[in-house]
Amino acid sequence: MRFSASFVALVAPLLVSGFPMRRQAAPANAADLLVLKFADVLEQMESAFYSQALGKFQETDFVTAGFADVEVPIQQFTAIALDESTHDQILQSTIQSLGDVPISGCQFDFSSVLVDVATMAATARVVENVGVGAYLGAAHLVTDPVLLTAAASILTVEARHQTILNIINGGSAIPQAFDIALSPSEVLAIASPFITGCEIPVAANPTLTITNTGTVAPGTSLTFSSTAIDSSIDPSTLSCQMMLGGAPFAIVLNYTACVVPSGINGPVAIYVTNSSQPLESNIIDQETNSLVAGPTMAFIDTIPEDLSSLARTGSASSSSSSSSDSSVSSVDSSSASVTVTDSAAATATDASAVTSAVIGTSTSVTTLTPQDASAVISSALASATAANNAASSASAPAATGSVMPAVMAMGTGTIASLPQA
Ligand SMILES: *[C@@H]1O[C@H](CO)[C@@H](O)[C@H](O)[C@H]1NC(C)=O
Ligand SMILES: *[C@@H]1O[C@H](CO)[C@@H](O)[C@H](O)[C@H]1NC(C)=O
Repeated sequence: MRFSASFVALVAPLLVSGFPMRRQAAPANAADLLVLKFADVLEQMESAFYSQALGKFQETDFVTAGFADVEVPIQQFTAIALDESTHDQILQSTIQSLGDVPISGCQFDFSSVLVDVATMAATARVVENVGVGAYLGAAHLVTDPVLLTAAASILTVEARHQTILNIINGGSAIPQAFDIALSPSEVLAIASPFITGCEIPVAANPTLTITNTGTVAPGTSLTFSSTAIDSSIDPSTLSCQMMLGGAPFAIVLNYTACVVPSGINGPVAIYVTNSSQPLESNIIDQETNSLVAGPTMAFIDTIPEDLSSLARTGSASSSSSSSSDSSVSSVDSSSASVTVTDSAAATATDASAVTSAVIGTSTSVTTLTPQDASAVISSALASATAANNAASSASAPAATGSVMPAVMAMGTGTIASLPQA
């Protein structure tokens, strides 16, 4: 927290010189530049979000939000803030080195969601999920494999932020085996309410707002508002569509009966369409003509985990042993909660409800013994060592300069592909 400013100043130039880029000044591809500029606006936004958040909240605010040890979230928010501002600087210098100029003049107003730490943390979770979705959804637009690899090395770090924020918000650390890709227009449906003052050359989908307040259980009907859904539209002609990571298609429900299904855990992208044809998760072929509004992100936290309980209360909840079950139906749905995180329209009412969702899940409490803790740590170290050994025995080319470890380690990985339609 206290070291961040000077640390950025020290490290950023090193990273700029280490950023993998072509030495030849090949003519920069316009699509690549657009992706870089778009990604940079998102990094500016993320950076502004964390800087406003860390500037506003004091340790006592984290105590109020229910954190037993406030240093746990504060250290993570500080580390994430540093990453985002570094990403912004790197992208800006890359855009400039390719002969273009970053999008400037953007202003980011998060005052509507910086009402308390719980709402801030819930919004941070949206921000990171949108960041991951944005890099995933833009990957196919990048033509230069060097830039694509560099962008992927940012994406992996955004995914790490996402995990930390899942934990801090009381959700599953790694709720789904796949993330959800979002097109640039879909990203802006979520991000644009926070951005003014700059011209982004991407059309934004209409923003979709969930109007339910507070914590609702699976079975609850979600309600929405959007400027694109006015009284001239017959709501019975609309569908709500819920996209989950890894599912080939969205779940289609009637707009007027958009009921949260059981069996969901983690982030859900929710769209409103004027067709009941399911949206493909495959962002390249996704048929977006029927898209009326959205997506908006909701987090359906039905499987509490020891790790998030530990991060928030300082002790692990024994009731969450069911978290290792793959069957969601084994979880008592009366204790399951849906944190409806609608960043654009959070109000003080939402905020108090979100707070109760954050701190209200644990029932019985088991303290992790030092022996348990060290067993967890040594097992984590053992797998980290194994991973390092695997990476270093791979025939990676000798590193010249600072090659990003994340990129090198990918050499031996297997890539799972999404199920085909
Ligand atoms: C959805 O709406 C259609 C017609 O508007 C209706 O026939 C159908 O029963 C509805 N489905 C559900 C699950 O409510
Ligand atoms: C569905 O919505 C899209 C986007 O608003 C619109 O362009 C299209 O005409 C609509 N289709 C129907 C059948 O209403």
